[in-house]
Amino acid sequence: MSSEDNLISPFPGIRPYTKKEAENFYGREREVEDVLSILKRYKLVTICGKSGSGKSSLIEAGILPKLQKGFLGQAGKEWVICDFRPGISPLENLSYALSDSGVMYLKSKSKTTDHQNYKNKIEEKRDLGLIEIFASSEIYEKKNLLICRLSFLYYWLKEQRV
Ligand SMILES: Nc1ncnc2c1ncn2[C@@H]1O[C@H](COP(=O)(O)OP(=O)(O)O)[C@@H](O)[C@H]1O
Ligand SMILES: [Mg+2]
Repeated sequence: MSSEDNLISPFPGIRPYTKKEAENFYGREREVEDVLSILKRYKLVTICGKSGSGKSSLIEAGILPKLQKGFLGQAGKEWVICDFRPGISPLENLSYALSDSGVMYLKSKSKTTDHQNYKNKIEEKRDLGLIEIFASSEIYEKKNLLICRLSFLYYWLKEQRV
């Protein structure tokens, strides 16, 4: 075996970069700075692009590591990251992700009824329901909440209006 066989490729191949690969993530410095400066001023950033253009990698290896190091957002330096896979039941999966212990609570434990309550609230009040869930949570104004892959909600809301 030559010494070259021990070299590890800095590219992950046909999958997005993960947080652990942030050290090998290059070429998106400008985009990372742009997203962070928007996050400093506004509560919502939308990252759009064709499949394969690098959105997931930008978020995972570019933005999340910076937030978790203590980036100053509108509600201080702490960030709660709520990442979920919309799958075939996006509303169900978002409600589960929000009710995961630790997401909406500072010290007290999440309740078994949270998932159903969150789902009902979003179904009933749509995007305002999501805002209400956050505004009445323990973390409101104490921590920033970043919800990834929320774009499904906008498609869902559009369908509801038809
Ligand atoms: N900055 C980068 N440098 C090199 N390869 C990258 C970079 N960003 C993404 N890739 C690669 O491009 C492909 C698509 O990236 P991905 O983040 O999955 O895009 P998207 O989420 O937009 O579909 C993946 O194979 C990923 O490893
Ligand atoms: Mg992706």
